[in-house]
Amino acid sequence: MKVLAGTSNLKLSKEIAKQLKLKLVNSNIKRFADGEVYIEINENIRGNSIFVVQSTSNPANDNLMELLICIDALRRSSAKNITAVIPYFGYARQDRKVVPRTAISAKLVSNLITNAGANRILSVDLHAGQIQGFFDIPVDNLFATPIFARHIKKKLKLNNLICVSPDVGGVERTRALSRRINSSIAIIDKRRPAPGKSEVMNIVGSVKNKNCVIVDDIIDSGGTIVNAAKALKEKGARDVYVYITHAVLSGEAVDKIEKSQIKKLITTDTIDNSKKIGKSKKVEIISLAPMISEAMKRIANSTSVSSLFN
Ligand code: R5P
Repeated sequence: MKVLAGTSNLKLSKEIAKQLKLKLVNSNIKRFADGEVYIEINENIRGNSIFVVQSTSNPANDNLMELLICIDALRRSSAKNITAVIPYFGYARQDRKVVPRTAISAKLVSNLITNAGANRILSVDLHAGQIQGFFDIPVDNLFATPIFARHIKKKLKLNNLICVSPDVGGVERTRALSRRINSSIAIIDKRRPAPGKSEVMNIVGSVKNKNCVIVDDIIDSGGTIVNAAKALKEKGARDVYVYITHAVLSGEAVDKIEKSQIKKLITTDTIDNSKKIGKSKKVEIISLAPMISEAMKRIANSTSVSSLFN
């Protein structure tokens, strides 16, 4: 078993390698003057099970291309099998045609990764579970929910909790968290009048005097969560806490969070935005390296990954 790190999230890759007591594969990944990606693997990997760690986060296209070229280099270097560890799977939100004459880019990206030569995918909180079916190779989709539940119980230690889904698409995830912390749920009826804009229409469920825990897979511009927190406060919520797996945090998102009614936002390190988050007083990062490395170990040993979540 060997771990090759792409350049999108070196911090997480190093942490994963540390947990596995391995050194990262010796490689050079660089860009030519015109932006083309070049990779050279500087050690023998013939016959090895290789895990290549690369989130396809911003810059999504560069990071995706780097992942594809890494897989190609591994395949041509006679790796026994290649697992693409994609903690944050970019393009996942383009998983269906919402309006006519658009692409299903998540499917295209899945084809690219498979055709490059990956034998297996390991990801975390895929935006939509059905993306697993876009691949004709095995996909292990890990969940941050148990880690969030533990944080709520050990760190927040609050009474009168309610889990809130920021939109209808997130209800399953919210139910999973509520089961683990024994709370009821509320659902926000969110509309998107235009891409990147969100509006709260209604809140289903009573949040009055409750400590609200919003859970979502992605925070991008921050609009969804900031508007949700505002609407919950207007309905009499006590404090609003937010748990998000993937901190995309585009544009002024961190600033918006700071100025919002959110008491605390807890996220993970699937995307390395630590520089942006470093300035924030409200955002806390939990590392998923222990969970991801344990899953990698189980894949390498052909033991159960799902039992990680029992
Ligand atoms: C959408 O369905 C996702 O789960 C997130 O709610 C969304 O991507 C967040 O985007 P933003 O932060 O830009 O509102």
